[in-house]
Amino acid sequence: MAQEKNIKPDATMGSFTHKHLLGIAQLSSSDIELILDRSAHYFEQNRQARKGNDLLKGLTQFNLFFENSTRTLMSFEVAGKRMGVDVVDFNAATSSLKKGETLADTAQTLNAMGPAFMVIRHGQEGAVEAMCAHVTCAIINAGDGSNEHPTQALLDAATILRHKPSLKGLNISICGDIAHSRVARSNIYLLNKMGANITLVGPKTLMPDDLAKLNVRHIESLDKGIAEADVIMMLRIQKERLGDNVVLSDVEYFEKFGLSRGRLALAKPDAIVMHPGPMNRDVEISGDVADDKTRSVILEQVEMGVAVRMAVLELLSQNIS
Ligand code: NCD
Repeated sequence: MAQEKNIKPDATMGSFTHKHLLGIAQLSSSDIELILDRSAHYFEQNRQARKGNDLLKGLTQFNLFFENSTRTLMSFEVAGKRMGVDVVDFNAATSSLKKGETLADTAQTLNAMGPAFMVIRHGQEGAVEAMCAHVTCAIINAGDGSNEHPTQALLDAATILRHKPSLKGLNISICGDIAHSRVARSNIYLLNKMGANITLVGPKTLMPDDLAKLNVRHIESLDKGIAEADVIMMLRIQKERLGDNVVLSDVEYFEKFGLSRGRLALAKPDAIVMHPGPMNRDVEISGDVADDKTRSVILEQVEMGVAVRMAVLELLSQNIS
């Protein structure tokens, strides 16, 4: 019976006014707090043996992933199912896109089948937002090029809050290929809105062009960049977005910018280590640091990903007409 009590809609739950979740840029700090609160609730629910509920029974969710994914796709799928949603994955490789149908026509066609949600990942910045004009359902951005990946930043924040009392005033170092990372961009927007101090760490060539507008400091050296950090976020080099701009070999990169056990010893003893995955072991992070259960929260981020996506589906469902 305790289980049943836990899955009833929370009467005190605040209202979420957005029809779509396109980016952190469009959210207020109270929107973010609301999502983080509900995520913490679902995190606890997901630790019980019976993790599901039927709050969103009768609704349908289409997942449209035009770029590879392990964590994000699977956790959106699990999240939908745990909320009672009928989840259907679209297979871009075997779809009529291959016969010349445009993305807009594809979205319009799928929308005619009556989904409540479309979760979209696309390689082009702005492509997910552009689909809003062609559908009546709620759209969730699961990553658009190097622009935004809002649910990743939300799950990162929710994970941090399991280890630190508040985001306000926290020192967060985001390290690696910031220029091409939608994870970094969404995190920068979110952490700024929540009052954290952000340090971007890595070579100048991997910093975004709009660095000066982001309200962050930049430190090239990893040793210096993590010295005062409460949270160290490591990022993969987005080789698929680099073009000819190859920086260093994997071995050289690890030497200069990789988080090794020795380097981690320079950080605060209670600094936590994060990585959105997929990891390239011994390139941006050593295997032993990644697997160190006393410092690394990487698998907890994955666990939180399901909870955050359940919360997002629940909150967006308030505005389904
Ligand atoms: C990230 C992505 O796709 O942007 N992965 C994820 O969703 N956890 C990070 C990456 O690909 O490096």
